[in-house]
Amino acid sequence: MKTIRKSWPIGILTLLLSSTVFAAESENYDAAAGYQATCFACHGTGQAHAPEIGDVIEWEIRSEKGFDTLVQNTINGLNGIMPPRGLCADCTDNQLRAIVEYMLEESK
Ligand code: HEC
Repeated sequence: MKTIRKSWPIGILTLLLSSTVFAAESENYDAAAGYQATCFACHGTGQAHAPEIGDVIEWEIRSEKGFDTLVQNTINGLNGIMPPRGLCADCTDNQLRAIVEYMLEESK
């Protein structure tokens, strides 16, 4: 029991440190450019019936699932038509999260 209690602060410290790193990473990341590079091919054109950026109602309905679900569906893909990671093989989870945030921001 003692060891568990002792390990707590380290766990919390790791969490704090990693969230700082993530925040810094997404601050430097240009989500708009990331979007243009891959997601635009479908989400800018409605290709494969992708929900278009700027379509307020479409994104409002999807947002009801919750932001985290949208991010998870981006990472894992959806219904066989939204490809896993949106075809951006070298995007990190956090970069994908930043792009989804950008897409929602542009669709208000
Ligand atoms: C090959 C075309 C294609 C590309 C490339 C693509 N998407 Fe999609 N995306 C889709 C389609 C189609 C859907 C709708 C899926 C459905 O609702 O069945 C979708 C849905 C989504 C959704 C909504 C998920 C939900 O739960 O409703 C998000 C968020 C999303 N895409 C993000 C992205 C991001 C971020 C990228 C770039 C990294 C990307 N997509 C690239 C086709 C694409």
